[in-house]
Amino acid sequence: MTDIRDRDHEPAGDDDRRTLEAQAALLSGRDFWSTREGGGIRSLVLVDGPHGVRRQAGTADNLGFNQSLPSTCFPPGAGIASSWDPALVREVGEALGREARALDVDVLLGPAINIKRSPLGGRTFEYFSEDPRLTGALAVEYVRGVQSTGVGTSVKHFAVNSQETERMRVSAEVDDRTLREIYLPAFERVVKEAAPTSVMSAYNAINGVFSSENRWLLTGLLRDEWGFDGLVVSDWGAIKDRVDALAAGLDLEMPGTGDEGTEAILQAVRDGRLDRSVVETSVERLRGLAERTAPTTGPAGFDADAHHALARRSAAASVVLLRNERETLPLRADQHIAVIGELAVQPQYQGGGSSHVNPTRVDVPLDELRRALGDERVTFAAGYAKGATEAATDAMLDEARGAAASVDVAVVFVGLYEEDQSEGFDREHLDLPAAHTALIEAVAEVAARTVVVLSNGGVVTLEPWHDRVEAIVEGWALGQAVGSALADVLTGSTNPSGRLAETIPLALTDTPSYLNFPGEQQIVRHGEGVFVGYRYYTSAQRAVRYPFGHGLSYTTFGVESFEVETTGHDTAVARVTVRNTGAVAGAEVVQLYVAPAPSDVRRPVRELGAFAKVSLEPGEAVTVTLELERRAFAHWDVRGSRWRVDPGTYRVELGRSATDIIDVRELPLVGDVDRPAPLSLVSTVKEWFSHPIVGPALMQGMMANGTPEQQAAAEANGNALKMVESMPMGQFARFPGVEIPDDALEQLIALSVASAQAEPAV
Ligand code: BGC
Repeated sequence: MTDIRDRDHEPAGDDDRRTLEAQAALLSGRDFWSTREGGGIRSLVLVDGPHGVRRQAGTADNLGFNQSLPSTCFPPGAGIASSWDPALVREVGEALGREARALDVDVLLGPAINIKRSPLGGRTFEYFSEDPRLTGALAVEYVRGVQSTGVGTSVKHFAVNSQETERMRVSAEVDDRTLREIYLPAFERVVKEAAPTSVMSAYNAINGVFSSENRWLLTGLLRDEWGFDGLVVSDWGAIKDRVDALAAGLDLEMPGTGDEGTEAILQAVRDGRLDRSVVETSVERLRGLAERTAPTTGPAGFDADAHHALARRSAAASVVLLRNERETLPLRADQHIAVIGELAVQPQYQGGGSSHVNPTRVDVPLDELRRALGDERVTFAAGYAKGATEAATDAMLDEARGAAASVDVAVVFVGLYEEDQSEGFDREHLDLPAAHTALIEAVAEVAARTVVVLSNGGVVTLEPWHDRVEAIVEGWALGQAVGSALADVLTGSTNPSGRLAETIPLALTDTPSYLNFPGEQQIVRHGEGVFVGYRYYTSAQRAVRYPFGHGLSYTTFGVESFEVETTGHDTAVARVTVRNTGAVAGAEVVQLYVAPAPSDVRRPVRELGAFAKVSLEPGEAVTVTLELERRAFAHWDVRGSRWRVDPGTYRVELGRSATDIIDVRELPLVGDVDRPAPLSLVSTVKEWFSHPIVGPALMQGMMANGTPEQQAAAEANGNALKMVESMPMGQFARFPGVEIPDDALEQLIALSVASAQAEPAV
């Protein structure tokens, strides 16, 4: 007898079978970077991303080993996020889109928007921030920018790709509230506001289920809840079981696996394990992607000079001036400067791995400083050299001391090399290379003033030398215009306006994930929960070297007014008037934090609620309007599986950083006033007594008819009740002397059930 499932799923004839085969084949890549052609769908090219187009003409690889065609290397995520400037990210996105189009690319594999959980994470140089709101706001504009050119994006890595250690095997164990509040919101916002053409699944598992085979993630959440209508592509080689992945909602397998994926799909349809319609739906999504990204004009080049200028402007806007004692910066034209450090001539400006871009050109810091200040005013000493012997390093240190002692300002270039920060592995410490630290200390001893310029995709410790230098310029990863952008900031032709998108801690042991990173035995417990980054440091009152949001300027800003009012249902608007009170033009980042109303759940003491970057001429003032959406006040209520705003008074805090709060407004919100849940014998004594209807009835009954013990218990209320308040009523009611009769309890339970079904309380 033929199994009914076989009849349903067995293609009727040869034509039909061939159609299915052709369809299944489309769902696995043709090679490393392109999809197959067929069924009226053209072949698509998908390449990295995120901060430049990595189009390989020769041998393909996804780890950045082989050369790619030249394209502009814009600042990687760690850099550009420090600009706190969504409009700038959009401009960069548009330029990336134009380059992608010119290089015959249909989908750029970016933005990379995982949350920086630990500064050790190998890909923190690619990711934006430790804060989901900042990440989401920037990612939305990245996607809009790229997609405005017709090129698609692939938002990655969905989700919780917080580390490189064991990235293909590790399971990130994260509770629901933490997922919703920290690791998912940036993805949610991009999907809802920017409609990315595709989403890339992560390598790791989440709570035991691999992202690429995770139906809850790829279908329940992404499509059903958030309304995503694009294509889900695997991270390169992430799929463990092609059929499970397809059934979970993963449409396209990349790179291609020859006929393996196709065969697996066909076999599953034949066996009745996979409905044919699943294949057809994914093919339609691929068709949709091809249509959305179809070129509308013929091939065109891109303006490399204009894009380099944008790379320079965006890099300069991303530099964070951490420290500037004695107004050491900007450098003045009449000063003599010693530029010290090999990184001033061989700059670091991106990290290693799949995002590695072959730049159209690279601006060298020393050359740019000489151009800006005049050759005669700038001397150079290497200070260290990668791979140098101890003796050679000592000699270079001596030379550096000599150079530093004879000038007005010594500018020391230090940082991390590409092999220190890369996809594929995590760092193990936050230290600079030892020769770099030694150089800073040697120079600081002899120089009249020392400026340290950092190039580091991931956070490095500024200890123990921090206090010994006058100025610190955090350059992160700035892309190919690194040299000119740093020279612009050092000489003051660009006023620094970057703000930290991640905390710089005092020590690795202070970081919230320290004891749970990178996990063990292929499990990484996100034990710090929602207390990631500044959410932890501020709540635990742990000192940091520089807080999230920190960044100095060559001018000063004053706040002249700050108003907050509620708008709709638990939303608010803030108006902040800010004036440039200094002598030079500059940009301020207005940061609003929300401190929660009292809550049943432990919440961070403050969370970024809204921000805006404004450029101001000297003396100019502007009033900035910032919307505080409902989500800015809400937390994820695990019991109701929904966003909940606790009723009560919130504080809206105006901050220069997450720890420097300069003004506060109180904001009472109605919030979600829930009907009290029905009581049961398992509900605690406290829940019974605090129930708005049952509580007073119980109290009254005990006073009127109770034994002396009951009356005493009811009267004592406060203290006596406190001792027993966590007891389930069923047990408390049986205590000698308490002895609340069963029928009384039953009546009260019925009352609570009735009140739970009544009209909502106000
Ligand atoms: C990375 C992705 C990248 C892909 C293609 C993977 O190793 O995780 O971010 O897009 O390779 O290069």
